[in-house]
Amino acid sequence: MNLSLFADEEQAPAAPAPLVPGTSASMLLRGFALPYVAGLLPALDAIAHAAPLRHMLTPGGLPMSVAMSSCGLLGWVTDRRGYRYAALDPASGQPWPPMPAVFLRLAQEAALAAGYAHFNPDACLVNRYAPGARMALHQDRDERDFTAPIVSVSLGLPATFLFGGAARADKAARIPLLHGDVVVWGGVDRLRFHGVAPLKEGEHALLGAQRINLTFRKAS
Ligand code: SIN
Ligand code: FE2
Repeated sequence: MNLSLFADEEQAPAAPAPLVPGTSASMLLRGFALPYVAGLLPALDAIAHAAPLRHMLTPGGLPMSVAMSSCGLLGWVTDRRGYRYAALDPASGQPWPPMPAVFLRLAQEAALAAGYAHFNPDACLVNRYAPGARMALHQDRDERDFTAPIVSVSLGLPATFLFGGAARADKAARIPLLHGDVVVWGGVDRLRFHGVAPLKEGEHALLGAQRINLTFRKAS
């Protein structure tokens, strides 16, 4: 008897795989977002129209190589005053665009598949990497409580995700992230350092010469 829910010619989703061998707080869900892509892309366009992606300044005054925007009740901003969540987009003075239903559904299903039930994100950061853009190792620690996981969705060009330890100097694993992959980290791994190596040149069939990353957080 064939117990698979999937027809033979369809690709069943890969089982969640631990990011750190032998542990389960952080999971890689290969291709998990693929069934959502057709819904995600028009929603992403609408967000980028209402709240254009921009190169924000670090507290040190340097423009980030990644262009960013947000949707949801809160958005993440950085400027000379520091990093924080804000209810209004500083570029427009308006609230961030609401989180599209398809975004929320994907984030909640991915969290659940990784072992985190009841994930209720109120912020989604949209990061756009052009070739050469990178994100230095950092912790996600501007959220008010760290009991909720981070759900990270990769679209477009492939990238190398750096997943480090509790200290910045800890050696980071290098994990290739492809279009449609989702990474979830939380629990004892919630404050691990992580980043993205400089994006390689390339052309993605749907997204062109860029990588888009969505990170879902419970910020308030
Ligand atoms: C982030 O750490 O906020 C982004 C990670 C990524 O782009 O994969
Ligand atoms: Fe991060």
